[in-house]
Order: sequence, then structure tokens, then C-alpha cells
Amino acid sequence: MRKKIVAGNWKMNKTFSEAEILITEIAEALDEVDLKGAEVVLCPPALYIEMATDVAFESNFTVGAQNVYPSDSGAFTGEISPLMLKELNVTYCIIGHSERRKYFNETSEFLRSKVESLLKHNIIPIFCCGEVLPEREANQHFEVIKRQLEESLFHLPVEAFMKVVIAYEPVWAIGTGVTATKEQAQEMHSFIRGVIAARYDPATAGSTTILYGGSCNGKNARELFAQPDVDGGLIGGASLKADEFLQIATSF
Ligand code: 13P
Repeated sequence: MRKKIVAGNWKMNKTFSEAEILITEIAEALDEVDLKGAEVVLCPPALYIEMATDVAFESNFTVGAQNVYPSDSGAFTGEISPLMLKELNVTYCIIGHSERRKYFNETSEFLRSKVESLLKHNIIPIFCCGEVLPEREANQHFEVIKRQLEESLFHLPVEAFMKVVIAYEPVWAIGTGVTATKEQAQEMHSFIRGVIAARYDPATAGSTTILYGGSCNGKNARELFAQPDVDGGLIGGASLKADEFLQIATSF
């Protein structure tokens, strides 16, 4: 189902005590605002998920993980399974983030198995796709995004695909302060919807939630979210400050 979502990807930031403060600040601030139907998702480091879901139980946000290993249990030292996330009431899990593709060599095939294992446990994948700058400069960005979707998602039957949230995150915009323009974001989101319509059907494309990520902040969120095919944002740096994150979450 198509939703408005603002998700904060904290990445590897905040100590436990800092995380407690930030989650409490966000929870309190959310009591005071009108989200206009949008859903706020916090994706802290895995160590803080239990604390976040405890607070979320009495607050107006849901919790996502930043990563998962595609197996229910087993000899995978250091990894976290979808079953473990599910028992902690995790609603979403980010996968395919460009940082994991780049630093941890995650392939499209591996991401495919992550999508499947999350869906098996009713955890919603937030599937990230995005091109690097040389690909955009070579005008290859549309084919890159199409390939990423095809390789990791388009094997899914329609009922499963409809549960997935997509985040378009141009790699050149992540952490750089260079945001995609509203026109660039709209153009790609509309393209993604077209690709989904061609693989599945127009109704499925119309009901897919597609978020934008990459240097989204309190100043530019409103014009990005006003685009017809932009359903919200996946926020990195600006999600680490309660006031700015709230400003973004109320930008619909
Ligand atoms: P920034 O908002 O810091 O550019 O990061 C975006 C991102 O990677 C979210 O997943």
C-alpha cells in the first residue's frame, strides 16, 4: 500500500546514552505534531533496536533495522536474523544501501535472498537503489536503476512485491550536501513507477511507496515531498538531530 514515510537511517552513529536521548526527544516531539498521515520510522544501530521498540510501543513511530542476514538462525558469527528482528517488533529493514553494496560487497543476488527472508517474517524491506556519479554523467542512471530492481526484486510475485518499499538514493547525493533537484527526483521516481508498471501492472506501480534519499534536510524536504511520485524520504545525517528530523517529518 502506498504510504507517506519519513525514515531515519542513523547508520553507525550515537552511543547508547546518546541514542536514548535522541529517541526520547523524537518521541516527545511527535506527540505535538500533525504528521498528515505520514509514518515516521527510526532505524538505529541494531544494539538500540530493543530500546527503540520499547519507546515506540507508546509513541507515534515504528522501528526499522539497518541490516539483516538471510537465514533464520545458524553459524553466521556477528549476524542478525529476521526472526530475531521480528520478535523485537521491527517493522522495516533497509537493504541494498549503497554503503553495504560498496563496503561489504553485497551483490544483487544476496539482496534477493535478504528480501525473501524479510518477507517470510513479514518485515517490510526498504530496498535502496541508486547510481554513482559517473553513471549519471554517462546518462546510464535509468538503466542502472532498472537493473538493480530487476536483479533483486522483480522475481517476486506481485503480492510479495507490493509489500516492498523502494528508496531511490543517488550515491552522489549521499552525505555530500548535494541533493538531487526536485526535477531529478521526480524524473527518476516516475521512471521507477513506469518500470514497475511494465513488469507488474499500473495499479501495483501506483500503490508502491518510493522514497527519496540523499542530503535531504529540513530546507529541501518540502519541495521534494511535493513531487507527485515522491512519497517521502530516507534520511541520513539530518535524522540525527531531533528538531531537523521533525521538520522533515512534517514537510508533507
Ligand atoms: P544523507 O541524508 O546523510 O545524505 O544520507 C542518506 C542516506 O544514505 C540514507 O540512507
